[in-house]
Amino acid sequence: MATLATGRVVIVGAGLGALYAALKLAPRPVLMISPEVLGQGASSAWAQGGVAAAMDPADSAEAHARDTLRAGAGTVDAHVARLVTEEARAHILDLTRLGTPFDRKPDGGYVMSREAAHSFARVVRVRGDQAGAEIMRALVAQVRETASVQVLEGVMATGLRVEAGRVAGVEVTQAGPQGSVPVLIRAPAVLLAGGGSGGLYALTTNPPRIRGQVIGMAARAGAVIADAEFVQFHPTAIDCGEDPAPLATEALRGEGAHLVNRLGERFMLALHPDAELAPRDVVARAIYAQTQAGLRPALDTRTCLGPRILTEFPAVAGACARAGIDPTRSQIPVAAAAHYHMGGVAVDADGRASLPGLWVCGEASSTGLHGANRLASNGLLEALVYARRCALAIEAALPEAGDAAPVVLPELAPAPGPDPALVARLRQAMTAGAGVVRDAAGLTRCLREIAAVEAAQPDCPALLNMTATATLIAAAALMRRESRGAHCRSDFPQTDATPRRSRLRLAEALAIRARLEPETT
Ligand code: SIN
Repeated sequence: MATLATGRVVIVGAGLGALYAALKLAPRPVLMISPEVLGQGASSAWAQGGVAAAMDPADSAEAHARDTLRAGAGTVDAHVARLVTEEARAHILDLTRLGTPFDRKPDGGYVMSREAAHSFARVVRVRGDQAGAEIMRALVAQVRETASVQVLEGVMATGLRVEAGRVAGVEVTQAGPQGSVPVLIRAPAVLLAGGGSGGLYALTTNPPRIRGQVIGMAARAGAVIADAEFVQFHPTAIDCGEDPAPLATEALRGEGAHLVNRLGERFMLALHPDAELAPRDVVARAIYAQTQAGLRPALDTRTCLGPRILTEFPAVAGACARAGIDPTRSQIPVAAAAHYHMGGVAVDADGRASLPGLWVCGEASSTGLHGANRLASNGLLEALVYARRCALAIEAALPEAGDAAPVVLPELAPAPGPDPALVARLRQAMTAGAGVVRDAAGLTRCLREIAAVEAAQPDCPALLNMTATATLIAAAALMRRESRGAHCRSDFPQTDATPRRSRLRLAEALAIRARLEPETT
């Protein structure tokens, strides 16, 4: 394998965590590996709700931490919840300074959205549903002006090189349908900030590239993965046949939108005292049950918003327009779709993974903040808090930075990328077997199908990263014989008295998969 060496810290990914970490590491030289043009294709840019932070004087970080703990169904790390919620305000002020045009009130205060399971309206927003896009725009502009940051666009990381138990570099290939032979970039430290796993499912709100590759590459290198089974399904993906499914932000329900079925029943009223603003897992299961029963759930924004949806929620209105839905006149059909991976690479309070030389932030990591059910808009917040913590820890771990020349990749020789038919099979298997409601038989079938997909193209690292993460999700879900938060087992509906987080290495997950009997029917 062709090898280059750099003195730059390598950041894998180009979303919120990656950009913010690169800025916080400046002036230390950084190399960002971005599969697309910077700012495109990252989940962060698609985040509609905003960032949760106690900015109102009547609110508090303690109340935010309490809500985070309550939503997380017993497995949130209380220390992590406290430190993240305490740091939230400073990061909002920092993003404002960096140019994010948050919605403001005439008195200068922040306009806050209300989202499910928050006891307070505490989600800072930009033009209703534009928070992710606008924060990313501001940070991309900053990164473009930061001389210490080199960005390699159109390049994708597919592996980590481990030597003597330490991460020594990153293997990269050309991004896109046509892959390439990998090149190794040796680096003093590697930060993974490349998103979660939603795209491993056939029905997802995540951008197409977000398919568990980053978690998979860390797992294949031997890192410990925590809470892999905890996948959050968003209740209101717009059910219009688009892949990925466009999101109808929870903030719409915060504005008073109702969920109804084809019989006109407002079914959440009977299911939870908070109705449409019940915790996300509760609403997602209700939507899933309605869909399975053929009752065609839909979101009705007509009374609460009327034509305001067109100007105040432009992303939702745009998605409706593409699908030929006029939300001022009709209900918006919705379905539960894979949205956020609460599990990921296990990290400590500084974002340090179990492998020396490796740091992880954002959705690819598992910090202990989200437990079994992430509180809405805590995802971008966690990415900000841990990006900075990773940057400080990397800075402290490395000797003083010298000059680092820009990295120039050699010509990348073509090699096959993941077979699209295999990726489609994998995604179907995950939705069918490791989706909103799970049981042992479905998870077993899912694991067998993952093994078959993997065996069909065993020499494609990008596909192996996906199957590694899929295996970890399904194996951890099979091992967790209870229902908790977003992990719902129809064959184990009880919640155990003693909450526990899960920790699994890929070798253990593969052993679970291998132990399953071959199907005889
Ligand atoms: C939403 O806007 O409904 C999603 C927010 C989130 O997932 O945090």
